[in-house]
Amino acid sequence: RPLDINIELPDEQSAQKLKIGIYFATWWALNVVFNIYNKKVLNAFPYPWLTSTLSLACGSLMMLVSWATRIAEAPKTDLDFWKTLFPVAVAHTIGHVAATVSMSKVAVSFTHIIKSGEPAFSVLVSRFFLGETFPLPVYLSLLPIIGGCALAAVTELNFNLIGFMGAMISNLAFVFRNIFSKKGMKGKSLSGMNYYACLSMMSLLILTPFAIAIEGPTMWAAGWENAVSQIGPNFVWWVVAQSVFYHLYNQVSYMSLDQISPLTFSIGNTMKRISVIVASIIIFHTPIQPVNALGAAIAILGTFLYSQAKM
Ligand code: 3PG
Repeated sequence: RPLDINIELPDEQSAQKLKIGIYFATWWALNVVFNIYNKKVLNAFPYPWLTSTLSLACGSLMMLVSWATRIAEAPKTDLDFWKTLFPVAVAHTIGHVAATVSMSKVAVSFTHIIKSGEPAFSVLVSRFFLGETFPLPVYLSLLPIIGGCALAAVTELNFNLIGFMGAMISNLAFVFRNIFSKKGMKGKSLSGMNYYACLSMMSLLILTPFAIAIEGPTMWAAGWENAVSQIGPNFVWWVVAQSVFYHLYNQVSYMSLDQISPLTFSIGNTMKRISVIVASIIIFHTPIQPVNALGAAIAILGTFLYSQAKM
């Protein structure tokens, strides 16, 4: 990413700010809708490996149709591109399926509280795997992040170890995805939208055999029948909604990553989690204790302090 040192006129600056504002608002709104439908589907049909696969399949199909009908221009890629994309796709697949497994076991708000700890993973991975060092305030900002997440976890009314571990694994996988992604995007002329489309397709190929081995068609058929008998024929639209919105929110987030620095992106991501936590607590009537909410607030405050310290 080149340094943004071009001189912009005030009109251009406000147009750019407006554009980024629209990207952010769209990204958060799509994400809230995804999280609500995803949880509604998982409550009736607890097969996160299949729902994760369907999200990727739906996005891949949407992009193939967009390329075929020339709504979007198909990217020009070579073998080298797909090779560099492979580790990104492995990390994306693990992060995605782990978050979905987590949400199938615990409240959406709990998964996202733990996921707000992602900056702590980012610093620790960069420190211990890449040997990067950071100024003291960055390390200090990890204390409220880790402390807040820990407080929220120990006071969570419906704590579940798989749910907790899923969110932690997702954090770790997404940190690696972001590191590999930065390397993979360097010098490539792909737009954020097409980069994410290729990522979805490769992740779909990686995830499908695991989903079949871990859950499989027999379980899915019985689960589907049960879900349709509980919810009615509308269930299929819930599945469509979670899959379409998953693709759209990720596509918009990759499109905004094209326009902003990774740091602004991570602040946007934390604010996105606040909207999801609040919306899901209201919609699902999630029981929370004051001390639990305090833990979440401390963790989120920590991520803001982290972004300030990184600036
Ligand atoms: C997923 O299913 O991939 C997760 O819900 C992603 O979470 P995030 O995009 O909010 O990190």
